Amino acid sequence: MEREIQSIKTTFEKELANAGDADSLEALRVKYLGRKGIVADLMQRLPGMPKDEKPKMGRELNLLKKDLEKKIKNAKENFSQKTRTAHSAIDVTLPGTWRKPGEIHPITKTLNEINDIFISLGFRITEGPEIETEFYNFEALNIPLEHPSRDAFDTFYIKKDILLRSHTSTVQIRIMEKGSPPIQAIMPGRVYRPDATDASHSFMFHQVEGLMVDERVKFTDLKGVLNIFAKQMFGEKTKVRFRPSFFPFTEPSAEVDVSCIICKGRGCRVCSHTGWLEILGAGMVSPKVFEAVGYPKNKYTGFAFGMGVERIAMLKHGIDDIRLFFENDARFLKQF
Ligand code: PHE
Repeated sequence: MEREIQSIKTTFEKELANAGDADSLEALRVKYLGRKGIVADLMQRLPGMPKDEKPKMGRELNLLKKDLEKKIKNAKENFSQKTRTAHSAIDVTLPGTWRKPGEIHPITKTLNEINDIFISLGFRITEGPEIETEFYNFEALNIPLEHPSRDAFDTFYIKKDILLRSHTSTVQIRIMEKGSPPIQAIMPGRVYRPDATDASHSFMFHQVEGLMVDERVKFTDLKGVLNIFAKQMFGEKTKVRFRPSFFPFTEPSAEVDVSCIICKGRGCRVCSHTGWLEILGAGMVSPKVFEAVGYPKNKYTGFAFGMGVERIAMLKHGIDDIRLFFENDARFLKQF
């Protein structure tokens, strides 16, 4: 029997070396170690052996069984590891994974367009804080104490005297306090008003303020600058109209309209059949404002204007709900 065991070992080694996949390894296991396999067959012959050889042969058979079990187990493990590395190997011929880059937000895009136009006209960009004092938001701008926007319900107050700015006109004051004319700047930024949110109102939106101050700045300069802006922003054929208005910090003041970019002035739903769209407030800087920033009397003149960025983006792209800008819906945002 000893020789038999030896030859079983040799054939097993050969067959193991030839077993190329998981199925043939399993078949090998059944052939040698299965219930009716070669080892079991030898075991069955053990009781019929001479008494003095039995214990030794029993030990030999057990060792053989353990040896075969171990070799098959190792081979199986080796094999599954190999297939795993084969599957995870990098296939350099596959196309790469591609992440779609983000889009620039339509408000940022519109702001960039506005900025570019004014930069080309010699304006510089300046920014100011969103948290302000009453002085910058109201007093220096000649907005009297009894003005409704100074009510806590009409402005976001953080505490007494500290508030979220309700317009970017605050930055006019900051610029003029810091330096003397000539000044030619635009001031983009966020502003806050406690309006109930609906299709045309948001508690936060963006404005671009404009300011030009020097010794002989005239109302016609304001008209010229805004004319160029309107044509570059909305198209060469765009017309501009000034209507008399009132702001405490400009004198005279005007609301500025452009000919409707949808119907070209013929009249449609967007312009309420007037042919015109209001885009900004403007005027000549009030002497009261120059006084508040400490400029000498009667030395300088200047113009200022302020426009809403959301409104301009909505008009330009035919967007009918301001909330779309802030909902972060990629289906909306990726259209621009
Ligand atoms: N600050 C004004 C507003 O928010 C706009 C404006 C700015 C008007 C500058 C005139 C001059 O409504």
